[in-house]
Amino acid sequence: MKDIEKVTVIGSGTMGRQIGIVAALAGFTTSIVDISEDALSAAKDELHRRMDRDVEKGRRTREDVDAAFARLSLTTNQAEAVADTDIVIEAAVEDIDIKRKVFAQLDEQSPKHAILATNSSNIVSSRLADATSRPEKVCNMHFFNPVLVMKACEVVGSDQTSQETLEAVENLAVAMGKDVIRVRKEIPGFVANRLLAAIRTEALKLYQDGYASFEDIDTAARSALRHPMGPFELMDLVGIDVAYLIRKAEYDQTGEEDSLPSPVLEKMYNSGNYGKKTGQGWYVYDEQGNKVRPSDV
Ligand code: 3HC
Repeated sequence: MKDIEKVTVIGSGTMGRQIGIVAALAGFTTSIVDISEDALSAAKDELHRRMDRDVEKGRRTREDVDAAFARLSLTTNQAEAVADTDIVIEAAVEDIDIKRKVFAQLDEQSPKHAILATNSSNIVSSRLADATSRPEKVCNMHFFNPVLVMKACEVVGSDQTSQETLEAVENLAVAMGKDVIRVRKEIPGFVANRLLAAIRTEALKLYQDGYASFEDIDTAARSALRHPMGPFELMDLVGIDVAYLIRKAEYDQTGEEDSLPSPVLEKMYNSGNYGKKTGQGWYVYDEQGNKVRPSDV
């Protein structure tokens, strides 16, 4: 297998944009692709802001950051971006039909040797592999939010993924500064999100059944368990839409009632308040993304 030199990320949202800059910082020629120019421009602005702050705080040098941006391109032209890519990391919306369409396109547009990975944690790659002609090169490569900070990366193959593919993806994750968690067989949510889901489900239940306010449940997680954030704060960071769609995707795969999103999560999702990215979720945020107060839910 050819060494990975060029990385393409599909989707410039919260995850995609940071996966892209982390790859560029690690020395890979990187493209971030999105269907929306506005989304790409928002991604570029945020990445510049974050990198400027890192330089200001002495966490990175200006040379390293400039070199990373010189290796990074943001584009709406997917066919051109993937034409010479060695791996694609798809981080588009958590919707199986959209992902299958994207994988079929990527299969046509990218070189035969290219690996096609998805950042999804709930849509396992075997559900995408048959949309391509290269199931042995399809797998999950799952990063955590915020990708610039969180060290973990779960790598998961289906029955059809080759050992060679898994090793190449693990090596890439290590080169990107990540700790690899190899998940030995497919299960929706993999390891970390299943642990997280157990806490989140219990937190939503405690709140919904009136045992405590969501602010106090967050305080308990932070002050009693030393979690860096409470489960409601974390939903706002990850996105209420993502938290909701993850549950829906799990239900579609398991058919178990327990997998369904809880009614309070569904209500929040339907309100269109998706957390930090829309300025309101469980909490209200100012323009800089600082938490201002609990929202009136
Ligand atoms: N992007 C990049 N860097 C960020 C960031 C972001 N969104 N938020 C914070 N940081 C970095 C910055 O360097 C910041 O320093 P700075 O303010 O001087 O620039 C530094 O982290 C510390 O940030 P804060 O002082 O604002 O706050 P914290 O010390 O609480 O750290 C946190 C923020 C790293 C997000 C921390 O609260 C944390 O680890 N929270 C838990 C995150 C978590 O559990 N993630 C996993 C979610 S599950 C998932 O992603 C799976 C997916 O499938 C949904």
